[in-house]
Amino acid sequence: MDTSQSEQKPGIMGWIDRRFPVTSMMREHLTEYYAPKNFNFWYFFGSLLILVLVLQIVTGIFLTMHYQPNAKLAFWSINQGIMNDVEGGWFIRYMHVLGASSFFVLVYFHMFRGLIYGSYKQPRELLWIIGVLLYVALCAESFFGYLLPWGQMSFWGSNVVISLFGAIPVVGQTIAQWIRGDFVVGSPTLDRFFALHVIAVPLVLVILVFVHILALHQVGSNNPDGVEIKNYKNADGVPIDGIPFHPYYTVKDIFGVSVFLAIYLAFIFFKPSGWGIVLDKLNYVPANALKTPPDIHPLWFLTPYYAMLRAWPSKIIGVLNLVAAYMLMFLIPWLDRNPVKSVRYRGVFVRINILVLSFSFIVLGYLGIQKAEAIYVLLGYRFTEIFFTTFWLMIYLNRVRSHLATLIWWVVMTAFFVAIDAWMVSVKAHSWGVLLESLWMPVGYVTLIFAGARWKPSLVADKLVPERVQA
Ligand code: HEM
Repeated sequence: MDTSQSEQKPGIMGWIDRRFPVTSMMREHLTEYYAPKNFNFWYFFGSLLILVLVLQIVTGIFLTMHYQPNAKLAFWSINQGIMNDVEGGWFIRYMHVLGASSFFVLVYFHMFRGLIYGSYKQPRELLWIIGVLLYVALCAESFFGYLLPWGQMSFWGSNVVISLFGAIPVVGQTIAQWIRGDFVVGSPTLDRFFALHVIAVPLVLVILVFVHILALHQVGSNNPDGVEIKNYKNADGVPIDGIPFHPYYTVKDIFGVSVFLAIYLAFIFFKPSGWGIVLDKLNYVPANALKTPPDIHPLWFLTPYYAMLRAWPSKIIGVLNLVAAYMLMFLIPWLDRNPVKSVRYRGVFVRINILVLSFSFIVLGYLGIQKAEAIYVLLGYRFTEIFFTTFWLMIYLNRVRSHLATLIWWVVMTAFFVAIDAWMVSVKAHSWGVLLESLWMPVGYVTLIFAGARWKPSLVADKLVPERVQA
């Protein structure tokens, strides 16, 4: 803190500054935090995520005042109490429910931005890891919250997910029972999920967001060109291509907030159920342990993982698959080691790979909402393969590879796809006939990348990166 200035500063601010460094903190993190001047659309989502976090906490506090965490009362305290009897209760509830979905829409956009501009690369690896931890905490938070309405989907969805732990050899059943607090999902489960949802995980989220921002301000923001603005400073030590976060980006963010609030409120007032995707109609039926609904699935933002899980005929492999999907997100900074950050200056295939990664995740999300019919399970399997393939291709696309290396990559990956198919046939999950009809999907994708990369190396090669950000 600049004590000489605050000592001289008159009035209330001077008084506070001598006791707590408000002004110097504002300077460090707002008026003298220099962000690159070329932020674009993709840079709206971080601040919107903070806004939604605050909205979720505030609406959550009001909901907690009226919600009853008790298996006999929970369903009615929401559907009768909050939705009908409490003044404005419906509005607060819809804000919270749609806030949860918005959180995930925003976080997926935010992560996509990180992928296209290489914001996970040196020196931002830790920032990225804290981000993935935030994402994991967010998934946990929504999972715990989904049991609270105690509707049919809440109840059976939780049942399915908790029973996954039962797949762990030897200790699985004990762990599942420990999580439920009983042999079946019941009142003890609701009580602990309530505690985790309203206090434990939100606390973790708030702390992680704080650490995320501190880490960001330590290394500075990346930008669409992926070049470091700290490398070019003027005589005062200010980055030439930087502008103060406040007022420039606070004003920009206010625009983003207005657009977001307009869409968010439009949903609250006109489409609160989000076509049955946000609020499933099965959840308007109270939980009944004796009546299993024909079609159980988690909330839309977790259905990609559900589709991956269903793709495997073995529960333990499905669980390992889920663990691998999360682990790979942490590892991205070490899979893509090419020093060029932004896709603007990388080969076209790097862009295609990110698009295929996102597309396969979206398709898996769609498949996870569908009934567990053979065609959806099979497609789930193929898109799971494609999803994982994109991570391995991040390694291949690090640089232009030789003919021999490319051939080895192709043989290994194709042999791997065929080997998993053979295993599927051996456990009688699918027949060869059915599998051969769709084997072209993963094999076709890697063949396209490998053949294209050798036919035209410029599809993989980096472009010339400018030294300074482009206007
Ligand atoms: C509650 C969730 C989150 C909040 C509130 C949050 C907040 C923010 C904010 C305010 C920024 C700076 C503004 C911006 O660049 O848009 C930021 C940057 C960043 N975040 Fe997050 N974030 C969250 C989740 C995540 C996740 C899940 C990831 C990745 C897995 C992530 C990775 C990053 C990265 C790499 C940056 C720096 C981007 C750059 O400078 O180009 N964040 N975050």
